[in-house]
Amino acid sequence: MESIRTITTGFLGLGNIGAGVWRLIEQTRGEIAAREGVRFSVKRVLVRDTLKRRDVSVPKPILTTDADDVLSDPDITLVVEALGGEQPAADYIRRALISGKSVVTANKLALATHWQELLETACVSGSCLYFEPGVCGAIPVIRAITDSLQANTIERLYGIINGTTNYILSQMSAPYAGQGPAPSAGGLSGQCGVSYADALFEAQRLGLAEPDPTADVEGGDAACKLSILATLAFRAHVPLEGLFRRGITTITPVDVAYGRELGYAIKLLAVAKRVGDKVEARVHPTFVPLSHPLASVNGSLNAVYLYGHACGELMFYGRGAGDAPTASAVVSDMIAAARSGCRGGERAYRMTGTVAMETDWVSRYFIRLQAVDQPGVLGAIAGILGRHGVSIASMRQTTGDGRAPLLFVTHMARESDVRSALGEIDESLAAIENVIYVEEGI
Ligand SMILES: NC(=O)c1ccc[n+]([C@@H]2O[C@H](COP(=O)([O-])OP(=O)(O)OC[C@H]3O[C@@H](n4cnc5c(N)ncnc54)[C@H](OP(=O)(O)O)[C@@H]3O)[C@@H](O)[C@H]2O)c1
Repeated sequence: MESIRTITTGFLGLGNIGAGVWRLIEQTRGEIAAREGVRFSVKRVLVRDTLKRRDVSVPKPILTTDADDVLSDPDITLVVEALGGEQPAADYIRRALISGKSVVTANKLALATHWQELLETACVSGSCLYFEPGVCGAIPVIRAITDSLQANTIERLYGIINGTTNYILSQMSAPYAGQGPAPSAGGLSGQCGVSYADALFEAQRLGLAEPDPTADVEGGDAACKLSILATLAFRAHVPLEGLFRRGITTITPVDVAYGRELGYAIKLLAVAKRVGDKVEARVHPTFVPLSHPLASVNGSLNAVYLYGHACGELMFYGRGAGDAPTASAVVSDMIAAARSGCRGGERAYRMTGTVAMETDWVSRYFIRLQAVDQPGVLGAIAGILGRHGVSIASMRQTTGDGRAPLLFVTHMARESDVRSALGEIDESLAAIENVIYVEEGI
């Protein structure tokens, strides 16, 4: 019988993800040994507090608060990083790679922020850096892009890649679940979903949002993931700093209801497109046609939809977070590292440099205003939009109590033109209540 190879492993972190990985290794130990001829033996686990009660039974002596016990131990050839945060995680990943250890990380922030440094370190040292769990948990989208879709030029990619915000927006859209466009509510006096604040509160109660939800609701988490996905898809570094980002905190039930009437679902969408020799990459609330598969990705689920010149349209869909789904990706990466003998980092992710970013993109726009209720105001606003080259595809004026709620959906318009036009609409004409991107041509 073939002998079982032991991979001596160190963990950095034993929180939700670290403990989930520990459990999954325990559950699958026999099967992995039989199938792969490999056994993962966890020698040391870095934590902040060795006395903390944990819901996995890890032998106390292997817990440590000294990172060197993992990073400087020559027996440890594979490191699982699940600390979270940018530092010291990025530094620990770099040190592990320099000393020839392979690293599997779930940490998109450390990776997106230190992308070039970490990838170069892996290439120079010949160590493997794996990060499938860092983007969309269990969904195998990193390996799909870097391996299965190698023959393609990926032209555009759209993602619902943050489960917390998707849950919140789904709650706000709950009255319309399973329906097509909402019937015109004649001024929207009828059904409206819960407020952003109530939906966030519910997400926090269920453990789907952190007590400080900033990284999720302001789009930072999704931006890190988009930087990684777009970099791999376009084979050139799409830096985190180059991404446009807007969160979901300004979305109101009224926006959701109007969007529904117009045939759209609201999503925090990550968008990456090739435009000539530039790349456009942005994360923002977006109206997506109800007929598109992304519109029916609800709750805390994630999806990545992409278009390759040969493969055509593909959509990856599933659990983007949680201890077991993320552990699924971590353990798969550990097996991949074991198969490669924990060497071969130079194989991975060779880039052609940093790509130029398109910052003046074209999109359709939903513009909601509260106009002054006087003759000529509507014409004046339409005139300003027209002068800036923003043409109106549809317009609605509804009646209010002495106010005139007004909304426009534009044809394709340039971001700079829309900004200039809106900058010219002052208080004497209208208050701008919200502007939401409309992504029609997905
Ligand atoms: N949670 C998810 O669903 C999910 C999904 C995909 C990716 N991720 C990523 O996975 C990573 C870990 O997330 P998590 O939810 O498992 O976090 P977590 O529950 O807060 O766990 C963090 C662990 O790291 C330890 N730790 C943190 N900072 C440390 C330091 N400076 N020195 C020593 N130990 C330290 C903590 O020790 P103590 O236990 O002693 O406090 C804890 O064991 C993050 O990068 C996150 O973005 C999470």
